Amino acid sequence: MECLDFFFLATHTLGFISLCKALIHFLSWVWAMFLRPPKQLKDYGSWAIITGSTDGIGKAMALEFASKGLNLLLVGRNPLKLEATSKEIKEKHGDDIEIKFVVIDLEKDNGEEIVKKLEGAIDGLDVGILVNNAGLAYPYARFFHEVDLELMDAIMKVNVVGTTWVTKAVLPIMIKKKKGAIINIGSGSTVVLPSYPLVTLYAASKAYLAMFTKCISLEYRNVGIDIQCQVPLFVSTKMTRMRASMFVPTPEMYSKACTKWIGYESVVVPYFFHYLQWFLIRAIPDALVDSYLLRYFLYWRKRGLSKDSKIKASGASS
Ligand SMILES: NC(=O)c1ccc[n+]([C@@H]2O[C@H](COP(=O)([O-])OP(=O)(O)OC[C@H]3O[C@@H](n4cnc5c(N)ncnc54)[C@H](OP(=O)(O)O)[C@@H]3O)[C@@H](O)[C@H]2O)c1
Repeated sequence: MECLDFFFLATHTLGFISLCKALIHFLSWVWAMFLRPPKQLKDYGSWAIITGSTDGIGKAMALEFASKGLNLLLVGRNPLKLEATSKEIKEKHGDDIEIKFVVIDLEKDNGEEIVKKLEGAIDGLDVGILVNNAGLAYPYARFFHEVDLELMDAIMKVNVVGTTWVTKAVLPIMIKKKKGAIINIGSGSTVVLPSYPLVTLYAASKAYLAMFTKCISLEYRNVGIDIQCQVPLFVSTKMTRMRASMFVPTPEMYSKACTKWIGYESVVVPYFFHYLQWFLIRAIPDALVDSYLLRYFLYWRKRGLSKDSKIKASGASS
């Protein structure tokens, strides 16, 4: 009998502890998602650097920062697009802020060139924030052996190598000031989903970014530098070519959510409906999600291949 009592007491206690844990987790999430005041971004410094700032999420983040009075150093590979983006931001936010840009191709420039160009561009600036946003994905899903060498090289260079060199170039200035924030734009393909078949290289490159963030955020937390990996699921940009909806926000909606989380946890899913998707996905066994994803991406591959062959055929006939 005593043994049975002990068993009941132990199971009740364990149940109570896990209930409390879940409740605390839920309440801290509600606090962080809806109630927590965002950090004053200007406290980090008056300049923000954004890579891949000529389109999509990066451009929207640049506009969001400009609306908060931050000066911008835009990093991009296309000088015309950089000029046009600078002009557009200036027109929207008047003369309150300064905007500079630097042409860096994260695929073509090597590490030394990236560091040299960036060090030159940030010399004398009170750099507070760096957003490593530039990224490349597959135009459509394919098996790993089907990824052509050029695409393979570009994804690894832009998503992994380039981002690492940019961080290397900017970090010293933040260490000197003993403050700063670095935001690496990761992907739900690695943090939220158990796998991302047929888009393997992209997902693996983003997994690097998540781990890179987790490690360096610990290294520099005590120095006063907040390093974070922000995890989007689908956003309506030229990368996804998806129409905006509740679960697929516009880059503007997404970047508003992003800025609220800067300076807090090291890996975050900032947009509410993305978080909701994550929550639901977590409730489904991994094996089911894996099998659905494989079927989904096989379908996506088939569509991409047929589109490609149509383009080739029309090119050959003209
Ligand atoms: N959209 C999504 O659903 C989604 C989901 C998860 C994660 N993400 C991540 O979010 C980030 C932004 O994605 P997005 O959807 O906004 O993409 P996007 O609209 O395609 O914009 C990508 C940006 O990166 C720049 N870029 C590409 N290659 C570059 C290079 N070699 N050197 C310098 N800049 C380069 C592009 O420059 P150009 O203007 O010259 O092309 C553009 O400004 C990426 O890291 C992506 O992996 C996006």
